[in-house]
This record gives sequence, structure tokens and C-alpha cells, in this order.
Amino acid sequence: MRSLRYLVPIALAAAALAAPRPPTQLRCEYLADPMGIDVTNPRLYWVPDSTDRGASQSAYEVLVSTSADAARGDAWDSGKVASGQTVHIVYAGKALESGRTYYWKVRFWDQGGEASAYSAVAKFEAGILDRSAWKAQWIRGGNVMRKEFDLPAAPVRARAYVTGIGYYELRINGDKIGNRVLDPGYTPFDKRILYATYDVTSRLKAGRNAAGMMLGEGWYHDRAAFLQLEIDLAGGAHVRIVTDGTWKTAQGPIAADSIYDGEIYDARRELAGWDQPRFDDSAWKPASLENPPAGVLSSEMMPPIRVVATLLPRKMTNPRPGVYVFDMGQNFSGWTRIKVRGAAGTRVTLRHAEVVYDDGTLNVENLRAARATDTYILRGDPAGEVYEPRFTYHGFRYVEVTGYPGTPSLDSVAGREVHTDVRTTGGFAASKPLLNQLQQNIVWGTKSNLHSIPTDCNQRDERMGWLADAHLAAETAMLNFDMAAFYTNFLRSIHDDQDDNGSLPDTVPRGKKKPPTDPAWGAAYPLLVDYMWNHYGDRRIVEQHFAGIRAWADWLHSQADADGIVSFVKFGDWVPIERTPGDLVSTAYYYASVDVVARMAAVLDKNEDAAKYRELAASIAAGFQKRFYHADSHSFATGSQTADTLPLAFGMITGNEAKNVINSLRDDIVYYHNTHLTTGILGTKHLLPLLTANGHSDLAYDLATQTTYPSWGYMINQGATTIWELWQDVTGPSMNSHNHPMFGSVGAWLYTALAGINTDPQRPGYERIRIAPEMTRDLRYASGSLDTVRGRVASEWRREPGETRLNVAIPVASTAEIDLPVLALRNIVVEESGRTVWKQGTFVPGLTGISGARLSGGRIVFEVQSGNYEFVAREGSVE
Ligand code: BGC
Repeated sequence: MRSLRYLVPIALAAAALAAPRPPTQLRCEYLADPMGIDVTNPRLYWVPDSTDRGASQSAYEVLVSTSADAARGDAWDSGKVASGQTVHIVYAGKALESGRTYYWKVRFWDQGGEASAYSAVAKFEAGILDRSAWKAQWIRGGNVMRKEFDLPAAPVRARAYVTGIGYYELRINGDKIGNRVLDPGYTPFDKRILYATYDVTSRLKAGRNAAGMMLGEGWYHDRAAFLQLEIDLAGGAHVRIVTDGTWKTAQGPIAADSIYDGEIYDARRELAGWDQPRFDDSAWKPASLENPPAGVLSSEMMPPIRVVATLLPRKMTNPRPGVYVFDMGQNFSGWTRIKVRGAAGTRVTLRHAEVVYDDGTLNVENLRAARATDTYILRGDPAGEVYEPRFTYHGFRYVEVTGYPGTPSLDSVAGREVHTDVRTTGGFAASKPLLNQLQQNIVWGTKSNLHSIPTDCNQRDERMGWLADAHLAAETAMLNFDMAAFYTNFLRSIHDDQDDNGSLPDTVPRGKKKPPTDPAWGAAYPLLVDYMWNHYGDRRIVEQHFAGIRAWADWLHSQADADGIVSFVKFGDWVPIERTPGDLVSTAYYYASVDVVARMAAVLDKNEDAAKYRELAASIAAGFQKRFYHADSHSFATGSQTADTLPLAFGMITGNEAKNVINSLRDDIVYYHNTHLTTGILGTKHLLPLLTANGHSDLAYDLATQTTYPSWGYMINQGATTIWELWQDVTGPSMNSHNHPMFGSVGAWLYTALAGINTDPQRPGYERIRIAPEMTRDLRYASGSLDTVRGRVASEWRREPGETRLNVAIPVASTAEIDLPVLALRNIVVEESGRTVWKQGTFVPGLTGISGARLSGGRIVFEVQSGNYEFVAREGSVE
């Protein structure tokens, strides 16, 4: 054993000389090994895999190949590129060919010029790049469609390009293809319809084959199918099967389906074998050709909706004879799976609700017109039957079962959690249990409202892409989940739905309400672009949408009076405790929109635009002050918290006067409202970050952990498992959803303030990081981690009397400043990995990765490179 001690240093020395490990997490357009990339110059990403201090990338080489080993870069060999960039590397090789698979790998050179080995091979497959390649026709008829065809040989490669609106399920030779549900995603169908690409090589065989499609109404409120199978056979022949007038159609077991109302499934009408070859479809009718929907076909380049988990009920009650209510313990999006055995024709009904009355029966009042009811009619199988719906979903915690033959038990039902399958990328925890519950409610509220669009709610007759809800929830979503591809798609939909005059509808896709939307809603367009820039450093998004966001700002400008005041308002600071004048809110969001346009113009080096919109922003701010500011009370308009918060948060007022407004805001919170907020959805997003940025993190924390009405803690104490639409605890036939993500905007503050993880807007996408945790009040511990495009960022701190510890992880392609609070520590001494880096008020150099430190605003600010750090700050002895 003793000899080991001598081996360790040798092993370490060898490691130091070894080549860096190959890059990992290869992505194309933010997706892992995607199929159906239909941009002509996709972007590639990787994460250099190293936790070595100060590791960085000095150069890279990418090989993109048409052969699976990617041995040569026959499609693209970037050559050795001297660059630290690991993200958004634009493919610059031969023109991509529709449907072709490209294999790629990457190596990098580290800071010392050592090359890594090549990464494992990743791949992406081009979608249909040329519209003329589409040969299928849109067809319609009943809700099932089928076609049989012969293949002279087994396929060596086969792809299905498929969509169906509202919803489709593709089946080949008896099996469902893929694991997407509720596909395609919801887009403005008159502009764009998303298709999916599936590898169906192993599903097809020599001889007779059958393709079938089931169709649901979905958001299209009608049914149409579109399929193109491209099949390469052994020997080089190619066969194409498409939807056309030769398909047959019938009415399947789904008697009715609607997103809001639910599904009626009559298992007696199942058509056994209909999706397999040699089925007798002589009674089926020919499908009719549908006039093609106006929208272009685009590949669904975002994570699809899937069944992501199965929830087991916590308890079953029997409030009335024959009525069984299951409590799933959690408000979520999805549906119920039920196991049942009984006579043919027995109807089992599943009703869903967020809440129950005191007697335990369902309270469905707040679902408004949505019936949220699934009905299963048994076929009478003696072995039992299992049912779950296909073309609907519900937002619920409770499910009521009636008509059940016999008595159900806890294992008769299961909850199926269904939403866009975004990868979890963040985690937050703290020493305060209330904050952990809040984080959990936010995460559930966020994911249950990701249904290919960011929805406002998941249960009632709505579930639309309301634009304010979208921008309020976005940063919280981006910190908890990998949202890049999702918002890339949603931004394209916003652009598709923008009017020629630059204005926008209330919801995207557009609903029935008359446009234009409220300025604070349409501001989602510039704000989402800004968030994509900040969190992912996505310049292409900025390029693609610059004209659109400028048109939006110009439209607002056309609504402004001579002072730059926009009085047009539809909703304003929605569902507040205290109202804020609508013209103040609209003008603030006019300013915010113009400000984003000015900053994005600078990003794109459009200097004229940058100057023009900066000037416009300044004039709006001046007009705003003139109209709304009361110099005597240091507050805006009515002095509501939102009225004072928005201009400060957006930077419309700065300097000394801003300090005065902060003070009156603080007074309003503490003295007039006993440390409670009065903000609606808009003010709430900005209130805590604003207080924190102005030295009042203690007050922000008090609001975040408040437990009496109105507060998040109040919701939690009333049993909330998600975030409510209203601060009030009401359930009734009006607007009071129990799962609305907008007040969950506070989730971003947990990461940015308490864990202290921030990206620098000048070097976005976490290329430059600021770790600045707020160690306040009774909080003893907080921890946050983020899988960013550049790799993992983490910050975890713990403090005890006389000692503070802060552990930080900074990815290879990033640098950071770490702001360690001095707090009450006297003669502070800081060690990192056991060596002193700060004492007697100065930096002690010498440790790899830490290049400097200075005292600033009660914090010691360390300048660090990539790597893992462990800082310990203690009181020093008095010398
Ligand atoms: C939605 C909101 C939305 C609002 C517009 C509501 O019905 O659920 O969250 O932003 O309408 O005022």
C-alpha cells in the first residue's frame, strides 16, 4: 500500500502531459443526432470535456462526411481553425442533399496546443430541402386512412416524411412509428406545417406492406393527412409511396376527439388488422384529395411532445356511490391510462379536474367550457383492457372514474405526463424548504405548459400561446430546460403571424381575438430574441428576426403621441393586486422593445439603426418621465409597485433619481403593504431582480419567502403544486387556472440571485459568466447548476458563522468573475483548494486559473478561467 503514495504524483504528471479528452455532447441545431435538418447551413456545437484549471480551446477541426465512420471530411473539412468558439459553428461544406445522412466528428487543440483525439461520431440528416421533392398529396376522409403496397425486395433504407393536421399517428405493418404524440406541433397552419422524419427501414419488408394513419382534430379542427415514404431497396431501386387518391378511409374506434373536451373511444369499433397487410378494406371509401393547406412544410426541428413519465395515484376516494376520485398528488399535463375488465359496451368515463370540493367530488368550474372527459367503451375482452387517449390532453391533478365495472383500485389508473420533451438542464436547491417547493412548483408549471408552443395554461378552454405569458415564462424555462430549439421554432411562428404593418396578434398561433395585441404582449417578439441572445448567444436568431422586431417597434412608434406615450392598452399589468395605468405599462414596453432593437442592431453592427433606436429610446424615456414622474413623491403615476418597477428595470431612469424611486418602492412594499407585493404578471417578473440589483436582496428574499397573501408561499400553503394564474385562492366558473406559468417568472431569480449564476450580455451564451450569490437573511445554503451550450456551470455555497464556502464550476470555453460576499467576516482570508488567495485586503497570486482579485461593493471579485473552484472565506486573526 505504501508504494501507492509515490505513484500518485507520477500519475498526475503523466495526466498533465496527456492529450486532452475528445469533445462530447455534439449537437446540430441544438439537437442530438437530429433527422430532418432543413436549414441549408446548420450550426454545430460541442463541449470540450475537461475540468482542468484554465483549460481552453485554441483551435478545432470538424470533419463532416457521408460515410458512417466520418474518416474523411468529404462533405466538409473545416481544416484547423484557430478559434475558441465551440458553439454555432456554421457548416460550410458541400451543399446538403435532401434526405442524406451526414456523419461528423470534431477534435480540438487545448491552450498548450495539444490536440485531442476526435470525438465519437455524431450525425445529422438533412430534411427535404427542395420543395419540388414533395410528391405526396393531402388527403382526407374518415379518421383512419390506409394503403397497401408491395416491395420487390427488403429496404436498405427507408424514411417516412409525415404530418397530419390536427394530429396524426403513423402506423406501419401493425406498429406505431416513433414515440411522438400530439404531433405535429402547433403552428400558424396557414403559414407553416411541421413534418416529422422517421427511419422506417426495419418496419418494411419484402412483399406486402401496409401503412395506416389515424387522424385527430387537434388545433386544426379538421383532419388531413400527408405521407411520403422514400424507400431504397437492395440492388439500388427506389420506391416512393405517397398519400394520394388511391388511399382508403373509414371511421375508426375514436368516435370523437377534441383537445378541450376529450376523446370518446369505442373499442367495439376497433378494426383489427387495419394497419397490417391483407386487411379487407373493400367496405372502405377512397380518400378524397384535400386542397393543400396554405402553409409550407417545414421540419419539426425541436423536441417533440412525448409521454415523458407515468404518475401513480396517491389515493382513491369514493365520495358517492359509483364515483371514484383519484388524487395524482400533482397538477400536470397529460391523460389517464385505465385498466378495466367488463362486458362489451360498458362505458367508463374519466373526468379531469385541478381541484375538488370539500366533499371530495370534482370541481370543474374553472375549466370553463372544456369538458376534459374521456370515455372508453369496452370491447369486452375477458383478459381485460387498457385504454389511454391519443388526440387530447388535460391539465389535472384529480381524475374521476364512473361507470367502472366493479370497484377500481389504486392500480387501475395511472397518470401519463405529456409535454414537449425538453431536456432538463438546470437544478436549484436551497436551505429554505419553501424555496425548494417553489422551485418544484415552477418546474411542474413550466413543463406542463410546453406543448410545442408555450401555453398560458393546460386545463381550460384556452391553452394558447399568449405572448405575455410566453415572455414572462421564458427565462425561467431556459434556466431549467434546454429551450433553444423550442423558442427557435416559436419565434419563427411569431414571425409567420406578424402582420404586414409590424403589429402582432395576442396569441401565436393567432386566435379569434382581433389584432393588434397589447404592447406588453407583442413585446414577446423582441424579448424572446433578446433572451435567445443572452442564454444561447444565438446570433442567427438575431439576424433572422431583426427586421421583424424592428417592424414591431416601428408599429408601436406609429401608435405613440408626440411625447412618445403609447396609450393603446388591452390588458396592461394583468391580474395585479393594485392596478397600474395602462398607458404607463404600454409605454414602458414600447421602450423595452425599442431598447432591444437598438442593442440587437449593435450586435449585428448595424450602426445607423443602433444609433437611431438608441435615440428613440432616450426620447421615449424623457417623454415618459415628463408624463408620469412625480418628483415630490419619487414615484411614477399612481406609485404602484409595477409603475415604479418597470421604468427602473428597463433602465428608463438612472442615477440618483433612480435611487430615490427604489426607496419609495421599498417603502411601498415594506410600510404600506407589510412586505407584500402588489404586482401583476408584468411587474412581478422584474420586481425581485430589480431589488437585488439595487442592494435589497434581503427584501427580495422576504417577498420570495412570504407566506401570507399575496405570495408564492401563500399558494404553497394552500396546497398548490404548480403556480396559479391569480394570487387569490379562488375556484369558480371564471378565470382562475391553477397552472399558469407566468408568475413562475420568479424562477429565474432563484438561479441568478440566490445561486448567483449570470451570463454577461456583452459575451452571451455563458461565454463570460458572473457568479454573484446573494447570501441573505436566514439562507444558509444554495446551489444551482446549468447545462449551458458551453457546458456545465455550477455555483454552490454554504455559510456558517465565521466561514463561507463557495464551489464553482466554469466550462472550458468560458471565463468568469466570481463575486464572493465578504458579509460580516473581519480580516477576511480566502483560500481556494486549500491555498490562500486573499489576505490583508489583497490578492495572493500563484494559483492556476485565478488571475486576479479586487474588492468591490462588499465582495471580493475573483477573475477565473475554466475549471472547478472551492473557495473558503474565514475571519482572519487580527494582526
Ligand atoms: C390568459 C392569460 C393571457 C390573458 C390576456 C387569459 O385568458 O390565460 O394568461 O395573457 O388572457 O389577458
